[in-house]
Amino acid sequence: MNILDGKQLAKEILAELAEEVRELLANGGRAPHLAAVLVGDDPASQVYVRNKVRSCEKIGFRSTLIRRPADISEAEVLDVVDQLNRDDEVDGFIVQLPLPGHINEEKVTLAIQPEKDVDGFHPVNFGRMAQGLPCYLPATPAGILEMMRRYEIETEGKEVVVIGRSNIVGTPISILLSRKAYPGNATVTICHSRTKGLEGHLRRADIIVAAIGIPEFVKGDMVKEGVVVIDVGINRVDAPETEKGYRLCGDVDFSSVSPKASLITPVPGGVGQLTVVSLLINTLKAAKREIYV
Ligand code: GUN
Repeated sequence: MNILDGKQLAKEILAELAEEVRELLANGGRAPHLAAVLVGDDPASQVYVRNKVRSCEKIGFRSTLIRRPADISEAEVLDVVDQLNRDDEVDGFIVQLPLPGHINEEKVTLAIQPEKDVDGFHPVNFGRMAQGLPCYLPATPAGILEMMRRYEIETEGKEVVVIGRSNIVGTPISILLSRKAYPGNATVTICHSRTKGLEGHLRRADIIVAAIGIPEFVKGDMVKEGVVVIDVGINRVDAPETEKGYRLCGDVDFSSVSPKASLITPVPGGVGQLTVVSLLINTLKAAKREIYV
């Protein structure tokens, strides 16, 4: 079993991005600028957004954090989005999800100009992705592809089983891995809560992408020898014996699956490490006007 080391990979890519920023500045350009909108004080969202802002600082990007209270109206959020759409100094921006219940996330996502949608959540970017056109890829699927590329994982003709069909992970990674490209050219099966005979599908898989949000759901007896496992889950489970009282685990039971896997991502330290990196790659593309000219 070999570990797919997301932490090391993220470090390498961040160094490459920092070098690109130095080149941009040396050629008279300005630093790429990412803005993040955080509504309310959800602890997990605060951590995620802080990581995004810190990563920008580390590699010489400019970042702006726009915080608003949880009781802000939908119209006011849309107004913030509108201002960011118009701000020529902002290359790309994200509105951290989830938003408070009284704000329609779909409406907010649709209000973001596709040219600045570095999360790749707008249907225009999603549609372009599905048709293989230049677009901002959503962060987690982009992180998975980057990991496959850098570890030279063969995907052509492979049986890929994706568990989970969310708009931000399961569905896009299924489309991307079946495209005529590398990574891609795989035969992809999407499994979800209504799938019958899930274990049968899993046992056939050469590559498993687990994104269902159920702690340690995939067990060793459900996978075949030599499988490549990409674990997208980040779950908190009670662990009274630890200082924090909890531990993080994926959607894959690492202890029983890893002895059978040829390659496997750990949690933490796997794909999660690459999601912020993917966002920064999109922001650089936005600054360089690579996708939308
Ligand atoms: N909430 C959880 N993940 C994400 C993400 O990638 N982008 C945004 N905007 N919100 C999130």
